[in-house]
Amino acid sequence: MSFASDRLVQEHDLIERMIAVLNRAVEKLESGEAVPPELFFQVVDFIRNFADHTHHAKEEDVLFRLMEERGIPRDGGPVGVMLIEHDHGREFTRGLEEAARRLQNGDQNAIPDIISNARGYAQLLTEHIYKENNILYPMGNRVFTPEDQQWLEKEFERVDKEKIGEETIRKYHTMVEELEKQIG
Ligand SMILES: [Fe+2]
Ligand SMILES: [Fe+2]
Repeated sequence: MSFASDRLVQEHDLIERMIAVLNRAVEKLESGEAVPPELFFQVVDFIRNFADHTHHAKEEDVLFRLMEERGIPRDGGPVGVMLIEHDHGREFTRGLEEAARRLQNGDQNAIPDIISNARGYAQLLTEHIYKENNILYPMGNRVFTPEDQQWLEKEFERVDKEKIGEETIRKYHTMVEELEKQIG
């Protein structure tokens, strides 16, 4: 059986590949190897536009809203927890960007801040994705009607088109592939 949320699960796969790149970059920093700050700027760009601006918009503006309409409470429940985690992710992303900028300006003391924000983001998002794939999305799919599923699919497509567009989505797939090669 296929669900509209399968599209979000596929997006999680790409986000997890980027998280693996980020973890690998952090390992390098921890072992004293240099990592160009540009790599972290690319990761931040991906997180902001693909993961947050587009993927999280599909969750926050479409999926979670419909779950609420179908009787799954937002506040105090698992949906509320997901929203708080999205916010925490945004804080780590800001911290990572700021630290990468300091590194670019030659401040080696920025390295521990890069490490802590990158690790924080990676751990948060890995657990977040696990919960969505295994708890949240199945919870919605138990209450959605076939018409809901069709509506969701259309809405997800609309958000993609409005927020980012097919070409940019392809660009991010290519970015992940290239960073995987670069980081080894
Ligand atoms: Fe989420
Ligand atoms: Fe998600």
